[in-house]
Amino acid sequence: MCGIVGYVGPRDCSDVLVSALTRLEYRGYDSAGIAVFENGKIEVAKTKGRLKDLSEKMEREGKPLGHAGIGHTRWATHGQPSDINSHPHSGKRVTIVHNGIIENYIELKDYLLKKGRTFLSETDTEVVAQLLDYKYNGDPIDTIHNVIRMLKGSFAFGIVFADYPDVVYAVRRESPLIVGIGEEKKECFIASDVPAILNYTKKYYLMDHDEIVKLSHDGVEFFDSHMLPVTKELQEADWDMDAAEKGGYPHFMIKEIHEQPDSIKRTIIPRIVNGMPDLSECGITVEKLREFKNIHIVACGTAMHAGMVGKYVIEQLARVPVNVDIASEFRYRNPLVGEGDLVIIISQSGETADSKAAMALAKEYGAKTLAIVNAKGSSIAREADMLIYTHAGPEIAVASTKAYMVQIAVMYLFAFQLAFAKGKITEEECKSLVSSLLEVPDKVKETLDKVMDDCQYVGSTLINADSLLYIGRGLDYTLSMEGSLKLKEISYIHSESYAAGELKHGTISLITKDMPVIAVATQNQLLEKTISNVKEVKARGAYVILICDEDNTFGEDVADQIIQVPKFREELMPMLAIVPLQLIAYYTALSRGNDIDKPRNLAKSVTVE
Ligand code: F6R
Repeated sequence: MCGIVGYVGPRDCSDVLVSALTRLEYRGYDSAGIAVFENGKIEVAKTKGRLKDLSEKMEREGKPLGHAGIGHTRWATHGQPSDINSHPHSGKRVTIVHNGIIENYIELKDYLLKKGRTFLSETDTEVVAQLLDYKYNGDPIDTIHNVIRMLKGSFAFGIVFADYPDVVYAVRRESPLIVGIGEEKKECFIASDVPAILNYTKKYYLMDHDEIVKLSHDGVEFFDSHMLPVTKELQEADWDMDAAEKGGYPHFMIKEIHEQPDSIKRTIIPRIVNGMPDLSECGITVEKLREFKNIHIVACGTAMHAGMVGKYVIEQLARVPVNVDIASEFRYRNPLVGEGDLVIIISQSGETADSKAAMALAKEYGAKTLAIVNAKGSSIAREADMLIYTHAGPEIAVASTKAYMVQIAVMYLFAFQLAFAKGKITEEECKSLVSSLLEVPDKVKETLDKVMDDCQYVGSTLINADSLLYIGRGLDYTLSMEGSLKLKEISYIHSESYAAGELKHGTISLITKDMPVIAVATQNQLLEKTISNVKEVKARGAYVILICDEDNTFGEDVADQIIQVPKFREELMPMLAIVPLQLIAYYTALSRGNDIDKPRNLAKSVTVE
């Protein structure tokens, strides 16, 4: 995790670094720091806490003044959040910032200790700073090249050498890194993610593993893993600054919830041709789909929950068996995957370590891989056999909402195309499903308008809850999982999701008047069954919040609060019913005064195991 940035150019470097880091704070917010060349000398400012703490510190004590430097926002891995453990870290002549984990740092630290080196912090990063300094031979590129050969693990480093003023070096392996190029001014940037540079430029290069880049006032130079100069293809971000700003909303999360209709449109419309799903630009053809016998969906957290929706829809429509796996389990359980199988990896960031490793394993076992990814040019996107980009735009809030929504949208398109390819639905049926999917953006908008006030009220009633249950059957059960995760991560209230029919096999003993239950019941053929389960918990004193469609009205014997979403085609109800679940989590966290966009202990992109 962590975010790194770097800048060389005519602007005030400290200001640029802090502004760029604010766009990466979602990657970690335990501490922040910068190193800037001031009059040819490296000056460091860093502190435990958030970027605002760093800015306040620099206001009090003065900020480094210069035109080249590096910066960091941290999600602690080795060593607790503290001033000392904050980046940048230095050896005598070298100062660095780091995103990633150096797995063999203890061994390297021992090696350096034996050479008489001493350490200030507990971090793996300081070991690399000292190693760079120890191995420094006056040639930064050669030294970086030699040192990274000694490292195991993942890294993106921004590096400055005291005797090369106003020059920034960077290198990556596994951790993400882009290199931005000024459009109007002669300036260049490094960053862990595109939003960091959008204030200044949309033009950037992607870095390959073990490539080194040198940024100076003359521009950028790339060197491959053999230290040979390389020319790279310039990319252009299709997001603008608005996408990375709150735009009048109090939090990114609520802004992103409202962006869902547009995100769905951007994601599905280009993939519909003559009323039929068309994923051929992603390498997926009807002929290819016919070959797959089994499908495995592998992902983490919210993305895995999108996979659960995919499982239900694919199995229902296409009658192809689908396993859904948590990536961290899949990769270590010698999974039954092989030739003829399709492994779908879903990931917003495209950098999640476990998902990435699961994909590599699936390839090794001979399966074909399809990545469904939001972040352009990310590792998972680059390494998959087939790729469907979701077009949610940058998702800044740590709690995923719009990325989940478009992951589901892609799952539907994929399921429709697969069902048609397998001859399980006719062209007419397929077109009818696609035409309903095209109505979803408007329906989501209608849902937002309809449920907002109710969800705000429910959020205020949950302020003192200690624990909640989410229940549902079928597709509604998959939504309960996501609703429960959303609530946990931002409100810090414990919750569990349960298949409604499973409750009576043990968990119902937890039900008291102090255990609110959120029930999702949008699937008509399961409605009666779910309502019976709801009545069971209600009869045992639970405060019940029921999410159903507007055609269903229930009395007080069923629920204390009823949130009705618009009535719509049943298969697609998850895309509407998830909205109140997202909003309940949001408003509960808001009423508890939590830091909604940056919940404690979390970071947006989980690049560690
Ligand atoms: C929760 C959330 C996480 C991510 C998970 C996977 O709101 O965002 O559970 O879904 O960490 O991340 P990606 O999708 O980037 O692989």
